[in-house]
Amino acid sequence: GNRFDRELRAPICCILGHVDAGKTKLLDCIRRSNVQGGEAGGITQQIGATYLPVENIRERTSLKAEATIKVPGLLVIDTPGHQSFSNMRLRGSSLCDVAVVVVDITRGLEKQTIESLDLLKQRNVRFIVALNKVDRLYGWKTCPNAPIAKALKNQSEDVQREFKWRLTEVVTQLKGSGFNASLYYENKKVKEVVNIVPTSSVSAEGIPDLLLLLVRWVPEIMMERLTYVDNVECTVLEVNEDKDFGTTIDVVLINGVLRKGDRIVVCTKQGLVTTNIRYLLTPYPMKELKAKGVYKHHEELKAAQGAKIAVRGLRHAIAGTALIVVKQGDDLEQAEVAAVQE
Ligand code: GTP
Ligand code: NA
Ligand code: MG
Repeated sequence: GNRFDRELRAPICCILGHVDAGKTKLLDCIRRSNVQGGEAGGITQQIGATYLPVENIRERTSLKAEATIKVPGLLVIDTPGHQSFSNMRLRGSSLCDVAVVVVDITRGLEKQTIESLDLLKQRNVRFIVALNKVDRLYGWKTCPNAPIAKALKNQSEDVQREFKWRLTEVVTQLKGSGFNASLYYENKKVKEVVNIVPTSSVSAEGIPDLLLLLVRWVPEIMMERLTYVDNVECTVLEVNEDKDFGTTIDVVLINGVLRKGDRIVVCTKQGLVTTNIRYLLTPYPMKELKAKGVYKHHEELKAAQGAKIAVRGLRHAIAGTALIVVKQGDDLEQAEVAAVQE
């Protein structure tokens, strides 16, 4: 590219929606994984993070090889839809750049869909609606991985009619929540009108459309925000005990670089703790951070990424708070003030 091109980081995309709308399954479809199948009761109970490199996204879309994508990938954050986990939806929506609100087309907007929309409205977060489970429309003919317009053309008149009225219903409900929305390929005012992408997480119709929108539309509307900066911006997602690594914290690195050995300050229930990064780990690309698996060790890691950090003394770290890196020559007191203020 051009030497005046900015370096963009991966957009952080939070998946929100009512319980069982298909959030995890949608990610499974993209990752070709089965995280949802391993969840107790089929219910997500922890916030997750997955890095999708741009090569994998290209492979899932019909983009020509020479078509440019300005971002190196996407970092997707899966959240639980169950009503008792509103803290995790708040955490996810607080740190993301953009959101995908998953709606079950057979059910329309539900309680936690509306709660999620309110969170996004309060925080001014732009979002896409994935109108999921289109394969459940009676008589749907599956067209695996097809762009949604093509898949819809392939359906009987009855299916098309049912699709249309359910879509209209959801558009009306969204209007009730204060959002104008439209089927994305009919959307003439992308600046004001929310894009709706019909999807199936089972047969993958509409998945290419959703991925393309995320990697093309998002950098377009938030170039400034996605411009990589060196200052570390990092949020704690979860605290875990690992049999190999001891206490680990899952973090989202939004900007900057983390290094093995870095001195960090983190908020815990017993006050601020200063410690060192013993191990800096990530899952392999397309793998869920919270899933037990094989980790990659890093000497340094550049944003945006989800990472697992092995640390001493952070058993009581508080999820949702900032992790601060103390640079050499930095005043520890100043770093502590920063940690408390965030
Ligand atoms: P929580 O995380 O618990 O809020 O649920 P979720 O939104 O992640 O939904 P999940 O992925 O657990 O899917 C719920 C159920 O819907 C599962 O049985 C999925 O197999 C099913 N499901 C999800 N997406 C689709 C879809 O596109 N088509 C069909 N037919 N079933 C789907
Ligand atoms: Na579920
Ligand atoms: Mg889930």
